[in-house]
Amino acid sequence: MFKIIEKQSLTPNTDLMIIDAPEIARKAAPGQFVILRKDETCERIPLTIADFDREQGTVTVIFQKVGKSTRELGELKSGDVIRNFVGPLGKPSTIKMYGGRVILVAGGVGIAPVYPIARALKDAGNYVYVIMGARSADLIFWEDKMNAVCDELILCTDDGSRGRKCVVTEPLTELLEAPWITGHVWAIGPAIMMKFCCKTVEPFDAPIDVSLDSIMVDGTGMCGACRVEVDGQMRFACVDGPEFDGSKVNWDVVLARKKVFSQEEQEAMQVWNR
Ligand code: FES
Repeated sequence: MFKIIEKQSLTPNTDLMIIDAPEIARKAAPGQFVILRKDETCERIPLTIADFDREQGTVTVIFQKVGKSTRELGELKSGDVIRNFVGPLGKPSTIKMYGGRVILVAGGVGIAPVYPIARALKDAGNYVYVIMGARSADLIFWEDKMNAVCDELILCTDDGSRGRKCVVTEPLTELLEAPWITGHVWAIGPAIMMKFCCKTVEPFDAPIDVSLDSIMVDGTGMCGACRVEVDGQMRFACVDGPEFDGSKVNWDVVLARKKVFSQEEQEAMQVWNR
């Protein structure tokens, strides 16, 4: 059993939980994820680690309440317990001093996994740009925290209610066009956003990593649920990723596999709403 030390509501549909998990906190690195299960009747939910505190022995996860399982999870309060909390899983981000600046694009709940990567890249001596995008101002969170770990933060919203009224690829293009070598780009958020970030980066020949939040079951490379196609090869997001070279990802496969259980998800929500 893993105790929820703190629970916060970050936006109307996004919650944060700080979990007491010293063993995971001790080994966690930016880019890795956990799989949790609220109780033995619930499905397993993979969540990228948003923060960790080795001294306190805590791991922070952030999730959008978009389906039955995440809404059930969102009903838990500080002091409640989670049945299973397994990790850290997956390969960490490659943190090093890149030549030139690094640009991190965070879309929606992708702000959460981008935060520890930005912090580690800044600690490694990089000049770090973060582009944070959301549909509207009320869906942006951790602006102050992100500001504290990057050199320049660019905010954009679809409706212009906060920051620039544009999609994230607009400031990304401007940064790539500026006369400064781009050492590396990360794009983490909705699959369609990551796909278009990769298309934006392509003519500039800058390396780009994306984090694929595939459907997962065991998280250890046994079930094949998280399979993706990268550079023409089948790869498992849970053990080979979750980060991959975005220029080599087959986005048609990623987008199609995300819809595989949409019928079942709708039926589960109908039962939940009754
Ligand atoms: Fe089963 Fe990746 S979740 S192989």
